[in-house]
Amino acid sequence: MPERLRCAVIGTGGFGLDHLNSLLHCPRAAAVAVAETNPERLKEAADRFKISRAYADYHDLLDQPDIDALTVAVPNHLHARIAIDALQARKHVLLEKPMAMNAREAAKIVETAKKMRRTLMVAQNFRFNRHTQIGKAILDRGDLGEVYHARCFWLRRSGIPRIGSWFTQKQFSGGGCTTDLGVHMLDTCLHLLGEFDVKSVSAQTFAKFGPRGLGETDWGKSEINQKKPFDVEDYSVALLRLKSGRTVVLETSWAGHHPTDAREYGVDLVGTVAGLSLYPARLFRPGPNGFETIHLSLPIVSHSEDRIHHFVSCALEGKKPLVAPEESLKVQQLLDAIYTSAATGKEVRLG
Ligand SMILES: NC(=O)c1ccc[n+]([C@@H]2O[C@H](COP(=O)([O-])OP(=O)(O)OC[C@H]3O[C@@H](n4cnc5c(N)ncnc54)[C@H](O)[C@@H]3O)[C@@H](O)[C@H]2O)c1
Repeated sequence: MPERLRCAVIGTGGFGLDHLNSLLHCPRAAAVAVAETNPERLKEAADRFKISRAYADYHDLLDQPDIDALTVAVPNHLHARIAIDALQARKHVLLEKPMAMNAREAAKIVETAKKMRRTLMVAQNFRFNRHTQIGKAILDRGDLGEVYHARCFWLRRSGIPRIGSWFTQKQFSGGGCTTDLGVHMLDTCLHLLGEFDVKSVSAQTFAKFGPRGLGETDWGKSEINQKKPFDVEDYSVALLRLKSGRTVVLETSWAGHHPTDAREYGVDLVGTVAGLSLYPARLFRPGPNGFETIHLSLPIVSHSEDRIHHFVSCALEGKKPLVAPEESLKVQQLLDAIYTSAATGKEVRLG
């Protein structure tokens, strides 16, 4: 086992820099190369993180035997192609969310990782959030009793990541706020419930702000293509019936007139004994003087590293990652089902 995982980062836009920064602070990893198609961004990242090997074409990294792993932070339509190429070149892969454009692509990625026996993990950072970890520990201890329903949401008031960027074009992103934000909350919620098997999905999507040129924020670095500026949703709602009979409601928005005093994102679970609410982590239950709210601030119980540190130790030690590729595939199947249900106006049955 090498002492340090030698990593290359592909894509140094908004989030690739975050990967580089995490790698810089990870004692068991070294960022040894970068690949980025935009020459200014490539130079900026290489200079800032003092990386001598910088490439315009990620293929140049693949046959370099002293690179053990790639972290991938490129627009969504490139996830599957780059992840599969990297895995076939025997590199471990940390892939940004969403896993792919659809479940067919995601299944191919998972299959390739299995075949090549490489570590694959989707960078679902909310799983590594302290509040998520505390919530999971409380849930697994049974403090909520029987949990029968969950609500998860991410409701931005004005947060479309640049109209006309790849984020707002279905052919490059796969979808709007559901794909971008919903994937975080859905993954976290199902992880907390410990159940990714879903019986059916019923959903609706809307595009009320983007098409009018409203609700933008300036996230993202990729070039803008004005030809097809906005053909995704900026609001969605979905009802999931899990195999166990439990239900989940997911609500997401990039832009909308939401209350200004409410949480922007969260996961709320209701049980027969108590309720749990994230973020922040709080427990609601009956107390001696009526209902009591307990603000949870327990020490971190597991996976105290961030997602990059965790991926690095899994790749070095051959451990199974906290975010199992099979779970990410199931989340991708749910995204597909949400869009199918919204397009057809019908409930979608799974498995
Ligand atoms: N986990 C999170 O919280 C989180 C947050 C933001 C973004 N993301 C994800 O990260 C990914 C990137 O998002 P972003 O916000 O950084 O986008 P971005 O547009 O800011 O950056 C993407 C970068 O990839 C580069 N690129 C495009 N094609 C390339 C190729 N073939 N080879 C190398 N580089 C290439 C672009 O030039 C750009 O610099 C997306 O999948 C997004 O969903 C995750």
